[in-house]
Amino acid sequence: MYQVAEENVKNAGVSNVRVIVGDAVTTIKSLRHGDSFEPFDLAFIDADKENNLNHFREAKSLLRQCGVIVDNVTDLSVEGVRNLLEALKEDRETDATNIATVGEKGYDGLICAVKLWIRQFDHKYTCIVYQLLL
Ligand SMILES: C[S@@+](CC[C@H](N)C(=O)[O-])C[C@H]1O[C@@H](n2cnc3c(N)ncnc32)[C@H](O)[C@@H]1O
Repeated sequence: MYQVAEENVKNAGVSNVRVIVGDAVTTIKSLRHGDSFEPFDLAFIDADKENNLNHFREAKSLLRQCGVIVDNVTDLSVEGVRNLLEALKEDRETDATNIATVGEKGYDGLICAVKLWIRQFDHKYTCIVYQLLL
């Protein structure tokens, strides 16, 4: 399937795209080189649903503040999907919503999460600011 992606990148005529082939659970870690990596604005996740929470956590760690994660989450009967939704409920670093879509399958959906801009002022107060990215 990665050949399709490579072909699409070639046809789009863009040169600043790197295709990394492998298990996303491990290969995503190669995008981080210590603390000196260029953070991403957007992560789109559409891999194995069992590892949804792992993918989400790794993607979030690579995102800049106010960056967005879109996760193609469709099937609530998958434990990995439920694990992610449970974790999002407690996640104070992101604000997330689920958008249901209608397509050929009759159902589909996306989680859209924004990594919050958290500013520590002192020990007592924490200010969380985020903006809608249009
Ligand atoms: C739902 S398909 C989506 C593919 C692509 N986004 C598309 O629209 O054509 C999920 C893909 O993730 C791949 N996949 C499953 N587990 C993976 C993993 N751990 N790391 C990377 N890819 C994985 C599967 O082989 C499959 O091709």
